[in-house]
Amino acid sequence: MGLLDGKVVLITGAGGGIGRCHALACAAEGAKVVVNDLGGARDGTGAGNTMADAVVAEIVSAGGEAIPNFDSVTDYEGCERMVRAAVDTWGGLDVVVNNAGILRDRTFAKLQPAEWDAVVDVHLTGTRNVVRAALDALKMRGGAIINTTSFSGMIGNFGQSNYAAAKAGIYGLTRVLALELRKYGVTANCIAPVAKTRMTDDIAMVADEWGPEQISPPVVFLASDLAKHITGTVLGVQGQRIHLYEVKTNDGAEKAGPELWTPGEISERWSEITDWGKPADPAIDSGSDDRISAVFSYFPAGFKSAAVPGWTANIQWVVDGAADQTVIVEGGSARVQSGLHGTPTCTVKIASDTLAALFKGEIDAAKVFMTGKATADNMGDLMKMGMAFDFEKSAAAYAADHPEDAAAEEPAEAPIADVPTAEDLVGKRYDAGYWLVDQDEFEAYARATDDDNPAYFGADAVAPPMYHVKPMIGLMMKMATDPSLQLDILRLVHGEHEMTFHRPLRHGDVLQLRGDLRSVEEKSSGKLVKYGVYGIVDGEMAMEGETSYFIRGERKAGGPKKPRAAPEPPPAPSFTLAQAVTADQADRYAAASGDDNPIHVDPATAKAAGLPGVILHGLCTMAFAQRDLVRRVCDGDPRRLRSLGVRFAKPVFPGETLTLKVWQGEGGDVAFATENEAGKTVISNGRAIVE
Ligand code: NAI
Repeated sequence: MGLLDGKVVLITGAGGGIGRCHALACAAEGAKVVVNDLGGARDGTGAGNTMADAVVAEIVSAGGEAIPNFDSVTDYEGCERMVRAAVDTWGGLDVVVNNAGILRDRTFAKLQPAEWDAVVDVHLTGTRNVVRAALDALKMRGGAIINTTSFSGMIGNFGQSNYAAAKAGIYGLTRVLALELRKYGVTANCIAPVAKTRMTDDIAMVADEWGPEQISPPVVFLASDLAKHITGTVLGVQGQRIHLYEVKTNDGAEKAGPELWTPGEISERWSEITDWGKPADPAIDSGSDDRISAVFSYFPAGFKSAAVPGWTANIQWVVDGAADQTVIVEGGSARVQSGLHGTPTCTVKIASDTLAALFKGEIDAAKVFMTGKATADNMGDLMKMGMAFDFEKSAAAYAADHPEDAAAEEPAEAPIADVPTAEDLVGKRYDAGYWLVDQDEFEAYARATDDDNPAYFGADAVAPPMYHVKPMIGLMMKMATDPSLQLDILRLVHGEHEMTFHRPLRHGDVLQLRGDLRSVEEKSSGKLVKYGVYGIVDGEMAMEGETSYFIRGERKAGGPKKPRAAPEPPPAPSFTLAQAVTADQADRYAAASGDDNPIHVDPATAKAAGLPGVILHGLCTMAFAQRDLVRRVCDGDPRRLRSLGVRFAKPVFPGETLTLKVWQGEGGDVAFATENEAGKTVISNGRAIVE
């Protein structure tokens, strides 16, 4: 049994060098191979049949199947002939490997237009031609495209402006193909090889032992069903090393307010704009290793074990400018070790000056995290850290032992200053990248909300409308924890959530996720922040909506409450439905939705947050309503549900029985509410439009 049994593979430039090795490796794994090669010289001049014929003979004599093709990839009709040869001989085409290439190296100043054109034609236009000619055949089989880029295109190389431009173009083309062809199950990846061939014969930095045969195993892997889920990647291959090339962006800097940046400001904030993740402020007082270790030894003094009973954690503090530290929480106590030890449950990154200021009580712990002066990669541990460690107490213990520190220094200006007001940030946009919609995932979402509607399962399934939570939860967290907003996540509750669905999501859709800050309102009881959320597929809005968070303020001693007017009794609902919330519902929903905020899954955190136990996700209660509305009002067809909105009024606890009340109005307007066993409304202002 070969890994490529039954697959038909077209490889360009397969008469020599790396392409020949790909052809032999694919055939050895059972593939039927079209061996294309123009048969010319390294610079692309000349042509002939001998190279492709020789490789076909090698494959056939080893018991494999192969046919030659001598067309040039620069000739579109020639590319159609290559594809037709595969389809006519073996009934289809599964994989194309674009490998053909030539070189015309010269510095840019001396490079002739013909040298530019020849190289761009073979590499970039040739790759385009082959993919275009093979597209229909590949779509039919859910195939794979493997293109060849290079170090030169990804990083740059002296004397290769034509070649680098063509290879970078192949990278861009591959990224777009990966996005556009996902829905057909066609993958598109690149390899960036380094190997000794006639192309690199005279390049000293390419070692003799880096053989072309070493480039082929990753190509066989990408061509096989083992890599069905891998698309849009670039694998560098050099000798025995296989690695990734990736284009990344950093967080950069953002100017508050509508004024455009001035060039002077860009110059001033250059280090922040180009920073890869460390706090941008230059260290005010880097502190020595000894001092930070000393400060850290005061950490346990501020530990309140009762705040988070049963919490175990290994929190590793990566301290810029001083020694790293590990804080271990177990058995109701905390201890500190200098250096990084064990397996972290949470990694905190912080600058030594920020840490020193934190311990001296100059800045507030919550603010340090909210403003991005420190980052932590585990939401749960971060929240528990906020509850369990009294930084002021640690600071007081430190100050008592170090009076010289306090006397010697003027109370320093907090390093966190000039934070734009939240109102200044209204209109700010958030980009949360792309999400590949996966049927396994939306089926799991349906199951977690006890929804067995056949529309979400099997062939031609669509995703449940509320499945949008899974791709969007990252965006929602990103917005709620935006350092420039300084929202206190420990006091944050989900207020309302409303979505309009323009089209259903299906397996393979690539959902582009965006958000924006719509408003920030100060209320007597706290702060209300509203965000727009948008999901775009193929450049068109698939869904859009609004989600709001409420950040509870400090409780103010209020006067006696005014008696409320007795509400109008509501009309009788069109129907009601009961829903038992299972004991493991919150765990199941957390796993299926990706919303693993510990107040939903960790009883200790929930208790520390003042709740009697874990609470169910409001979005899960909303999903129950969606399920029942689709069943009862949309006759089981989720596509008829065009919008859905709710207000989260009260927490729901696992084990409760809920009642959904639905009022069906005119023209598809639906109102609903969900009540708990005590008759209290847990979801209010429920509204939906049904088509
Ligand atoms: P090579 O020169 O040994 O092989 C290239 C093959 O492409 C030749 O057999 C040639 O006849 C064929 N070819 C050229 N123009 C063609 C056309 N218009 N139509 C059909 N076939 C054509 O070079 P090598 O090293 O095997 O290169 C293979 C690929 O790997 C190329 O795309 C190259 O740019 C790329 N690459 C190679 C590196 C290396 O270290 N060898 C480094 C980075 C990229």
